[in-house]
Amino acid sequence: MARRKLIAGNWKMHGIAGDLGEITRISMASETLSDIDTAICVPATLIERASEAAPGFVIGGQDVHAEPRGAFTGSISAAMLVDAGAETVIVGHSERREAFGETDAQVAAKAAAALAAGLDVIVCCGESLDVREAGNALETVGKQIVASLPGEIPEGKLSVAYEPIWAIGTGKVAGPDEIREMHAHLRGELGKARGETFANETKILYGGSVKGENAGDILHLDHVDGALVGGASLTADQFIPIMNAAA
Ligand code: G3H
Repeated sequence: MARRKLIAGNWKMHGIAGDLGEITRISMASETLSDIDTAICVPATLIERASEAAPGFVIGGQDVHAEPRGAFTGSISAAMLVDAGAETVIVGHSERREAFGETDAQVAAKAAAALAAGLDVIVCCGESLDVREAGNALETVGKQIVASLPGEIPEGKLSVAYEPIWAIGTGKVAGPDEIREMHAHLRGELGKARGETFANETKILYGGSVKGENAGDILHLDHVDGALVGGASLTADQFIPIMNAAA
């Protein structure tokens, strides 16, 4: 079965109501591209208004709490994301793993909560430059992703995003051989852990300085099923060329 490409944007801590026109433009462009899936993950404050600004377009969150409710000041539950209009959520982004100390087990619990609420989930993984230079990237990221997966995964609801930390926001893209090798390795590890069917159906996205200029080269590598885009998702002018490159 061919895997449809997914081009997902991650606005990180960017965006206020005045920026929603970008999502409207991206949404309109996506309507002409029926062979790919698209989504933009916005700050929680924008989910509801982004959903209204782009009806039918997939809006997502960038994090979710593993618990359904409780005394967790500042946190947002999966049900709250759904209530606001989100259809997907990123979990385990390296910025949350590094800045907030999220462990693989916590990421898996978050993914489980999101899936239970009916959300699609993008689980992130990726190595630091030190790990890459020590020659341990494949082993480290392979273990990381398997440990970050929840127990139950409904068919077609979970994607993996490989984002080498040294390539995020740096303008430095992993080379084609590095991407191909890692994506093939991750698919193999998913197969060993969860079976061939799951591995073959799971989208593995690449993230890290994806732009319109490099998207075509990256998106057509073996085992690359899309992209998780940070900086270049903030404007339609930058994001639409990436979508077009996937189509
Ligand atoms: O979630 C997105 C990634 O962190 C990539 O960010 O495209 O700005 O390098 P970037």
